[in-house]
Amino acid sequence: MKKTTVAAFAKRKAAEEKLVMVTAYDAPAARIAADAGIDILLVGDSVAMTALGLSSTIPMTMDEMLHHAKAVRRGAPESFVVFDMPFMSYQADDAEALRNAARALKEAGSDAVKLEGGAEVAPLIAKLVSAGIPVMAHMGLMPQHVRAIGGYKVAGRTPDEAARLLAEAREIEKAGAFSLVLECVPAALGKSITDALTIPTIGIGSGAGCSGQVQVLHDLLGLGGEGVPRDARPFPASGNAAKEARAQYADDVKKGVFPAPDNSF
Ligand code: KIV
Repeated sequence: MKKTTVAAFAKRKAAEEKLVMVTAYDAPAARIAADAGIDILLVGDSVAMTALGLSSTIPMTMDEMLHHAKAVRRGAPESFVVFDMPFMSYQADDAEALRNAARALKEAGSDAVKLEGGAEVAPLIAKLVSAGIPVMAHMGLMPQHVRAIGGYKVAGRTPDEAARLLAEAREIEKAGAFSLVLECVPAALGKSITDALTIPTIGIGSGAGCSGQVQVLHDLLGLGGEGVPRDARPFPASGNAAKEARAQYADDVKKGVFPAPDNSF
């Protein structure tokens, strides 16, 4: 499969072809997503909550994210992989942010980085882009700000807040981001931001008017555990299938049906 490029994203938006992104944290999930024709694999810091049993994304470190990103690259050598910059890997100072973002490309072979923030990160985005590091921005609900916001809340509900988000999205585009994740903003705002920009928006809980969608793999598979978030829909009973596979395995071992002679040497 031919690898997608940063330039292709704006063209896809212009051609009104939806972009599809899903999180991947390990090699087999990356390979399955690549085989399924997913455009973009996101090594999301959501791995903290989905796979590592943490209650927020805050504890993730650069080294931990790199560990997952390397596995994703090994599983999907030709896919467009976005590396999610973890909390405090880019906020403290620009030089550290540049060095950390470079590690994502050099050590993990990722194609781009993603970082959360509005107008305040626009100058950093410009520096990263001019250093040759493609940036996907992330606005709306920003999980790394959960302590400050006091929970996971829909963003941009009031007219003032919506106008601020739209203005900041324009600044992000001007700074050179090649795409923008919009998390949990009202559908009407998702559409107006999308219409106002040339770069594609990738929505999660932000309506069908975005240029593409992203889902957290475990929500998509129904493996979330504590119910399905409103922005997600588990696709054909995969959570059940995963549970049934384990149950069947246990059953077959107990019955002596597994391993069969074919599985033995
Ligand atoms: O970490 C993640 O999975 C994300 C998505 C929710 C966009 O940032």
